[in-house]
Amino acid sequence: MQLSPLQSRLVASMIASCLVIVLYLFLFAPQFAFAADLAQIPNILDQDDTFYDIDDATESFDVRGSSYEPDFSLFDRSIIGRVSDGTTPLDADNPIKNNIDPGITIAYVFEKASVAGRSVREPDTLHELRRRSNGTQEFAEDDEDGESSSDLDLVQRQTPSKTLYISVNTCNQPSRISPDQTTMDPPQLTLFVSTSSENTSPGPGNNRDTQKTIVFDEGAVIYNISLDRDVYFSISAPQVSEKYFANTSPYNYEVAVSLDGYYHSYDSEAQPNLYWVDSDASSSLLTTRNLTSHSEEVISTPPYTVFVQNTANLDINGIRKSYCGLSSWAQIRPLQNGDSQATMGLRQGGAANLTMQEFYITGLNSSANYTGIVALNTSLSLQKRQESGSGGGVVVYSGVDFSTKPNGACTFIFNLTVCTETRYAVPGNSEKFPNGTALAAFYDNYTQTMWDNFDKVLQQTPCEAPPTQRYSLVRDCEDCKQAYKNWLCSVAIPRCEDFSSPDQDYLQMRNINAKFPNGSLVDQSIRDNFGEMKAYSASRNVEIDKEIQPGPYKEVLPCDYLCYELVKSCPASIGFSCPMPKSKFGFNTSYAVPDKNKELSCNYPGSAYYPSAATVVAIPWVGMAALIIVPLLLVS
Ligand SMILES: *[C@@H]1O[C@H](CO)[C@@H](O)[C@H](O)[C@H]1NC(C)=O
Ligand SMILES: *[C@@H]1O[C@H](CO)[C@@H](O)[C@H](O)[C@H]1NC(C)=O
Ligand SMILES: *[C@@H]1O[C@H](CO)[C@@H](O)[C@H](O)[C@H]1NC(C)=O
Ligand SMILES: *[C@@H]1O[C@H](CO)[C@@H](O)[C@H](O)[C@H]1NC(C)=O
Ligand SMILES: *[C@@H]1O[C@H](CO)[C@@H](O)[C@H](O)[C@H]1NC(C)=O
Ligand SMILES: *[C@@H]1O[C@H](CO)[C@@H](O)[C@H](O)[C@H]1NC(C)=O
Ligand SMILES: *[C@@H]1O[C@H](CO)[C@@H](O)[C@H](O)[C@H]1NC(C)=O
Ligand SMILES: *[C@@H]1O[C@H](CO)[C@@H](O)[C@H](O)[C@H]1NC(C)=O
Repeated sequence: MQLSPLQSRLVASMIASCLVIVLYLFLFAPQFAFAADLAQIPNILDQDDTFYDIDDATESFDVRGSSYEPDFSLFDRSIIGRVSDGTTPLDADNPIKNNIDPGITIAYVFEKASVAGRSVREPDTLHELRRRSNGTQEFAEDDEDGESSSDLDLVQRQTPSKTLYISVNTCNQPSRISPDQTTMDPPQLTLFVSTSSENTSPGPGNNRDTQKTIVFDEGAVIYNISLDRDVYFSISAPQVSEKYFANTSPYNYEVAVSLDGYYHSYDSEAQPNLYWVDSDASSSLLTTRNLTSHSEEVISTPPYTVFVQNTANLDINGIRKSYCGLSSWAQIRPLQNGDSQATMGLRQGGAANLTMQEFYITGLNSSANYTGIVALNTSLSLQKRQESGSGGGVVVYSGVDFSTKPNGACTFIFNLTVCTETRYAVPGNSEKFPNGTALAAFYDNYTQTMWDNFDKVLQQTPCEAPPTQRYSLVRDCEDCKQAYKNWLCSVAIPRCEDFSSPDQDYLQMRNINAKFPNGSLVDQSIRDNFGEMKAYSASRNVEIDKEIQPGPYKEVLPCDYLCYELVKSCPASIGFSCPMPKSKFGFNTSYAVPDKNKELSCNYPGSAYYPSAATVVAIPWVGMAALIIVPLLLVS
């Protein structure tokens, strides 16, 4: 048959097309098969763990057994976890939970091709900022239009990343049979990572040159790897001794991969993010650091979650860096029904009027040691505004140790009207003032009376006068008011330590001639030595002994600079003065000198156990030499 030139061109191009298709199928067909298979997986993964064919994946496989090598080929067909693929790019940020029995290894693959698909499909997707490496603000409170300082990070994330971030948290581990403190903690899971096509299911016993082995640390592991080829990784559970651990509870982990940064992370390098403010015998107050850097910044929802554990309770040993582990095992944690022994709230205060999050923990045992761990779950807060579902993640911070006081005089109070920064234990009496609310009302009333009197005096000084007629060119009445408030609140509301706490320079015994609530008396020798001295036999504020009758206690002395600031800021006509540091029973029993090397060395508004970082106002001693003393008179 004779073909016209047009027809012959058509035939030629059809033959060429067929050849191209055949060649293409020959080379790339498996890719298509994958894509089709995997399109549905994310939905299944969302639902539950049953996607994993556990039986198939976990054919009895003894890591230590000599029969291991021959069995290994089983794993070639058991790459069961497909974490992401080219068609559903957001799956990269989709954490998956899974049970794993001791001695089992479960393998995953992340294909390089899935990233190419992602960046082509969504060239301008912004991958939500989840965590900034500089340790500042981590929750994305920025506006929808992203005006805030996170702009920079977001822009950087527009360029498709070529790094794969793998993170795993242990949610459950075999429980120890004996409550004995000395037995070992459950062994940790292990992560194996390989990019070698010869080792597509890395695991214990494989060639070490082709895989990287990382043992979990306190229930967490993170690993990043360049995504220049497919990444294979496995999570392997160790064999556990039935002698020590209940084998009925398998391990459970949560695994996530991301291209933007770790989904699960543990922050031990940044400055601590939780501080102990104070405790009494049954409650404690913890606070985060400043969450804002300007007083105008507004945070509407408390970002952090707190976990508290009695240090004698070993349940969280081995999972202290795991968010899901703490969420299900910590003694005090947010419960499903919304209850918790930790009440939290945001508080704006301090010198710069910044916002921090506070946790008031109740129901604690007396004279006990605790660890508080704060964590951030941005996957929850971002969920609402992000339809795409990308982003989010969890960060666990290093913990803070704190303790409760013995049952004694000290009672924690907060929420006062004049002394808004006062949040610590004060001398109390559980019979006369059964709860902190009633006790706080007493101190509130007292400071209010003092404050009103002061206000009357101050009104007689020319505050509004032109500069030349004022009492000072550098200080005005607002400075004086602030200095007086800081001083009054620290002096009139003593910060209380139990009488049994060890002697310190900054602790002053008070009320030592009174009886303890149980009727017993302070050591005879102490009463013989100090019983005659008013600084020891009474409280600083006589109303306390009269109305509260707290029994013997120790006072954390106010910082000396509060007094110096008062004298410097207020008109001399009011007559404030401070004791000289050398006057024996004037200074040492009234004020304490801040010591940067101690977590707490004196009392000031907002005092807490800040790791040797208390800001100290340095006062030249020379200027103080002329001052004389009357702190007790001023208050009583
Ligand atoms: C990635 O891993 C390397 C070493 O494996 C580490 O030095 C680097 O800090 C990691 N990067 C991130 C962002 O964690
Ligand atoms: C919070 O900010 C204030 C004012 O800048 C500062 O004095 C204080 O030390 C900060 N507190 C913490 C815990 O960082
Ligand atoms: C208090 O002590 C009891 C007995 O030692 C213990 O079972 C309980 O877990 C403790 N509670 C807290 C919150 O520490
Ligand atoms: C603080 O006191 C006010 C009244 O003075 C009260 O309405 C509020 O509930 C108190 N807050 C807390 C946390 O107790
Ligand atoms: C606190 O004690 C007072 C009595 O002093 C009582 O009227 C009040 O109901 C108590 N409040 C709480 C929360 O227990
Ligand atoms: C408040 O204090 C004043 C003087 O200190 C006292 O007279 C008054 O009874 C107190 N009021 C209450 C409710 O405690
Ligand atoms: C009474 O209480 C004090 C202080 O809490 C304590 O040191 C003392 O041992 C107690 N005495 C008795 C007999 O319980
Ligand atoms: C006051 O206390 C300081 C610090 O403990 C001490 O060095 C000094 O000797 C004491 N002064 C008197 C007069 O006791």
